[in-house]
Parts: sequence; C-alpha cells; structure tokens
Amino acid sequence: MSETALTRRTLMAAAAMGLAVVTAPRAWARRAESHRQRIDDLIARMTIQEKAGQLTLFNDPFRWRPGNVNPGDFDTDQEKTAQQIRDGHVGALFNGVGAEQARYAQRLAIEESRLGIPMLFAADIIHGLRTTFPVPLGEAASWDLDLAERTARAAAAEGGASGIHQTYAPMVDVARDQRWGRVVEGAGEDVLLNNLFAAARTRGFQGDDIADPLSLLATPKHFAAYGAAEAGLDYNTTDMSEQTLRGVHLPPFQAAFEAGALCTMSAFNDLNGVPTSGNHWLLTDILRGEWGFTGFVVSDYTSERELIAHGFAEDDRDAARIALTAGVDMSMQSGIYLAHIPDLVESGDVPMAVVDRAVRRVLTTKAALGLFDDPYRGTDPEVERRVVRSQAHRDLAREAGRKSVVLLKNENNLLPLPKSGKRIALIGPFADDRSNVFGPWSIFADRDMGVTFEEGFRAALADPSLLTVVKGSDVEAPLDGGIEDAVAAAQGADVVVLAIGESHNMSAEAQSRVNIVIPAPQQALAEAVAATGKPVVVLLKTGRALELSGAVKDARAIMVTWFLGSEEGNAAADVIFGDHAPIGRLPISFAHYSGQQPYYYSRKATGRPELPNESEYKARFRETSNTALYPFGHGISYAPVRYGEIALGAETLSWDGQLTASVRVTNTGDRPVDEVVQLYIRDRVASLTQPERLLKAFQRVSIAPGETVEAAFTLTRQDLLFIGRDMTPTVEPGWFDLWLAPNAQSGPHTQFRLVR
Ligand code: BGC
Repeated sequence: MSETALTRRTLMAAAAMGLAVVTAPRAWARRAESHRQRIDDLIARMTIQEKAGQLTLFNDPFRWRPGNVNPGDFDTDQEKTAQQIRDGHVGALFNGVGAEQARYAQRLAIEESRLGIPMLFAADIIHGLRTTFPVPLGEAASWDLDLAERTARAAAAEGGASGIHQTYAPMVDVARDQRWGRVVEGAGEDVLLNNLFAAARTRGFQGDDIADPLSLLATPKHFAAYGAAEAGLDYNTTDMSEQTLRGVHLPPFQAAFEAGALCTMSAFNDLNGVPTSGNHWLLTDILRGEWGFTGFVVSDYTSERELIAHGFAEDDRDAARIALTAGVDMSMQSGIYLAHIPDLVESGDVPMAVVDRAVRRVLTTKAALGLFDDPYRGTDPEVERRVVRSQAHRDLAREAGRKSVVLLKNENNLLPLPKSGKRIALIGPFADDRSNVFGPWSIFADRDMGVTFEEGFRAALADPSLLTVVKGSDVEAPLDGGIEDAVAAAQGADVVVLAIGESHNMSAEAQSRVNIVIPAPQQALAEAVAATGKPVVVLLKTGRALELSGAVKDARAIMVTWFLGSEEGNAAADVIFGDHAPIGRLPISFAHYSGQQPYYYSRKATGRPELPNESEYKARFRETSNTALYPFGHGISYAPVRYGEIALGAETLSWDGQLTASVRVTNTGDRPVDEVVQLYIRDRVASLTQPERLLKAFQRVSIAPGETVEAAFTLTRQDLLFIGRDMTPTVEPGWFDLWLAPNAQSGPHTQFRLVR
C-alpha cells in the first residue's frame, strides 16, 4: 500500500476545494508495509471460502445488542457465528460493543481458525458511544472544527475501549432537501462546511495513529451522492451533472480521505442510472484511479444485494459479481459474497485476481489497524470501565451541547432568563423527556446519563420551585386534557418555555417527511399557550430545518436545540439562563415553506432572479419570496453586532497574487459575543453558471461590549475555482462579488476583478 498515492488530479481537486494535502508518511502505512510478506503468504494459503470470508461482514451476536437498527432479522445464533469464525467464513462483525465479548470472538479467530487472521469489529459510533454528543448536524452548527475533532476523539476512545476498531462515520453527505430524514447525520447543505467537518471528524476518530486502541478507523459515507435523493425520499434515485457530483457531493469524501480515512461505504442510491454499489466508475475509476484511495470499500447494509431490486442484477450471484468487480470489497450482512464468490471464481465469471485484490485491501487495513500485532486491542474491561462515561466526556458533552444551540430570534431581549424572580412554565412533550435527548444513531447511549430540560433547568435555577412542568401533548398525538393543563400553567407563569419539535425517530434513516412542520397536536398546543399572551420561548428539537408557522414562528424567542446528547438539559440551561452566550450558526437554511425544498442558499440565479420590489415573472413561488425565513449561517447572540463596510486591499486580484478583505464588526450591546464572520463570493460571469453565493471562509471573533474587532481574510485564485466543462478545477478572470456577512442572506458587499 503506498503511503500517499496522490495523483495530480487529487492534488488539484484538493487545492480547488481549499484542502490541505497531507504528504507526511503515516504510521499506518509503515506498519501495513511491514506485514506485506505475511499478507502475501496468507493470500497464497487461503482457500476460496476463506477469501470470501474475509470479504464478509455479519452482525455481532455475541455482544450487547442495541435493538434492530436495520431491516430484516439479525442472526442471534452465537454458536453459528462462532463456527463461521472458526471456519474462516466471516472476517468482520458489526454493531456489538463490549471489551470482554470482543476478546472472546477474537480468540475464536486467532486460536481456533486455521489461519488465525484477526477479526475486524465495526459499529455505528456516530455521535458518541455511551456518552452522547450532539447529533452531527447540531454540532456542525457550532462551526467549531476543534470541537468536532474532540468529540470524535472521545467517541473513538469509548468505542476503542469497548472492543471496536472501526466506526461507520462520519456521514459526509451534502444534504439540500430538508425532507430527507438523514440531514441530521451530516454537516448540512454547504460544501465547505462539509469538507471541514469531514476532515475534523476523521482526524478525531483516527487520532495520530489508527492502531492506538483508543482510535477508530473512520468510514466516510455514503459513497456517493446519497444526500441528493430525489424529493428527499430516502434511498431514492439521484440524477445530476458530473459537475454537481464533483463540485458538491464528492469533495467531503476527498477531504476525509486526505485526512487519512482508509475505508468508505458504498451507498444505497443509484446515480445517473448506475447503482453506486455496482458503480465501477465511482468505486474504482474515481476513487482509486483519480484519488489514489488505498483502503477498502464496504457496502452499506445489503446495498450490494439491492442491485437486484434496482433492476441492475438478476440474482444474488449476479449482484455479487457486479459489486465485487465494481469495487465493493466487503459485503455487509447479505452473505452473498460468502455464498457466491467460490462459484463465481470457479466458473471464470470473476477472476481470482479480483478476489485477491479485495482480500489484500481488507488484510492491509487490518494490518494498518495493528490487528496483526495486537489482535486483542481494546478488550480490557478495566480500561473500558475507566474510559467510557468519564467525567471528562460528560463535560465535553455539555460544552458541545451549548455550542450547538442556535438562537434564531430574541425579541426585546427576552433571553437570557433570570435564575430567580420569574415563574417559568416549561411546556411540551420534550420538557421532561429523557428518551429524546440523544437523537438518532445513539444506539449505544447510556440512557441513564441523559439530562432532561427539566433537570437542567432545576439545577440552574436559584429557586427551582418557580418552575412548573407540563407535557401538554405527545409528540404526534394530543393528550387528554393536555392543552387545558398547559394553558393553566402558562397563565400562572411569567414566561413560557415551549419544548417542541420532532422526536429522534422522526429525522433518521427512512424518515423522510412530506411536510416538514411541527406535528399538528404540538402546533395546537403552541397556539393555545400563545393565546394566554404570555411571552413564549421556543426550544426547537429537530434534526432538519422545519417550516415554522403561527405561534411557533411568532414566539418572542426561538432557540434550536437539535438533539444535544447526554447533557442536553444542562447545556440548554447554560445558554437560556445566560451563563454562556449562544454561539451557533445554522448549517442549513430554514425556508418559509416545505414546498420550497430542495432549498439551499448556494442556488443558481436563473434568468429571472427575484429582485427587491420586483416579483412579477420571477423565479419565486406564488406564496413566498425565494428567500429563507432564517438563512444558512444565521444565529444571534445576546448582544447585537454591527458590520462596517468591507475594506479591500486592492480592486483587483492578480493571477498569482493575493487580495485582502476585511470588515470591522462592533458589539453594540452590553454582553460579550462570538461572531462568525462569513466570506461569500459570486463569480459574476463564467463559462458555467455559478451559485448566487458560495461560502469560502469564515472566522470566529470574540467581541467585548462596545468593542470593535476586525476580521481579515486573504483570497487567492484558488478560492475562486469551480469544476469546469472539462471536469477539472477551473478559474476564469473577471468580476466577482464578495460579502463579509453574518449569514448567507445579508451583510456588506463589494466586488473585485481577477486579472490574468
Ligand atoms: C445505514 C448506514 C449504517 C448501516 C449499518 C445502514 O442502514 O445506511 O449508515 O452504517 O446501516 O448499521
């Protein structure tokens, strides 16, 4: 395995997307290299069944199981799996955690199988293990890459100490249709933000060396364009130009690979007619040919078998042939590789070399993970006890929670609330609900660790007796007498905090929604409570952007809390009661209506763009302007800020030169703020139409009350690249718009010219 097999195209593409190209030799590559001879010997000695076994991944029946997170029945027959391990008929297990049982399963492979090849243990460790951090979308709202790296590091430590070697994360699918339920798992709609979070999370999971028992192999998923499912319908077809694929959906994968990820997962969707799990162009020509990826590809759960349902393969045998030949090295759960590879090779339908190539990739990754040196890494229950649920992880969960909160509005400075002297009615299905603090993909979460809003509020308040808590409604059904109780509580309070929104299973895999609204019973609750005339703060639980209406939209304050994880209640209280100012910014646009989806800020202008005061015969819907209610990048704090004019170093950027752009931002309030200054550009005239605005950089500045701080950026030609007609990064001279802005829909504007 070469250390950094970077092609010129990779370098160019990476540079195009503003990525640092890693050229330092990596420890894993040296380690894998030192086992090359052993891997050659093993491949020479393996039977075809043993080879098929190394390419087969089944669910783990030995260890604590979280319940069924996938369709179909998990095999719970431990003796059957034990025998498959002894026979060399399975090389990897997934979604069981626990150090002690990992040792047992590993011992079967090392001591009782013919060749003693170590098992690989993987799991969906997406935003924490026992200690749960905010859902990835929520954490992306922090715009804090160091934070993302630290939470991934902590998740890796808990996973690694529990006998896991690989995580099926980060999810790096750019998501631009909020009806899609899996928006919650990624970093939102923007390419740059996705690139940066993909790299940060990969670095966090993998640490300095993936062989560290407290590190996990990262698996950026789902390769590729899974987030572009038509109509936001999960698993749906995707169809797009190659420019959009290369310019929007592939860069976050490149970013994760450049950060060192050695595995990826082939997706469920078809792409321009070819299912991605049978797509040679994607899995081999681009991934390996252009990018020099040297790790292995695992199918998503039975996605290689689903080539049949796609109408792309005749039967299991045909599906195995197509997937393996296209470049899917390991089959997840379907068992079709184990069942059919021997016959496919014997009949000559698949050359042995293709099987050997896949086996070599899997074994090399096992070697890179240190499994040939220490197959029992992560199987010490003592270490597991010490690492998981540590106080340091809890503290990090609280920090990450409060940094993920986004304050959308705060009329007349209703927030922060005082800790005494005001009666608070905390109302809603999530007011005192532990089951929804963790969010989707928290299958291993320690349920007892969850802190509810009520618990967080009580702990924060000087006089907790001033807090009344009423459920008012279930998530999707009314409660008998719920509204009456809620109205009575509101009437007896000075301020209402409404904890409403989606439950964790409403935005998750296979949870696409037609109308992305607050469920009707909760909306009715909000209307009734608002009718009391009491000031209302909405705490919005959600895994996607929602259409806000009526009393929810009109609430005096709205705070998006996503699913903040184990420390949700404490983290929310930290912000609501003002111990910490809100710092989050939206990683997705909140459009006015569901019907605007797919909606994203970096859309094309069209030939008839909507203009201020001109709406006839323009690209807009009858019912609404084509803007967002709360745009991408939006988020306020407890003090207002004022942007000055942009100062440019020059009017032109020369071909090989640099241009500085700066703006002075003033805190006009009486509390400190963290402002995220966002640099957007628009390429005015190009040989392919370009987005109306595109984020190119951002900077967080802390500003004391009354203070003015300058945020300065340096632009080069590299920042202006797009994927051209010839599919390579291109830049063309001419005029560019530039904004240094608090969000994608406002801020001071200027322009400059790129000259050759
Ligand atoms: C999901 C993947 C996940 C896999 C294993 C699939 O349904 O799409 O994201 O990693 O299951 O649990």
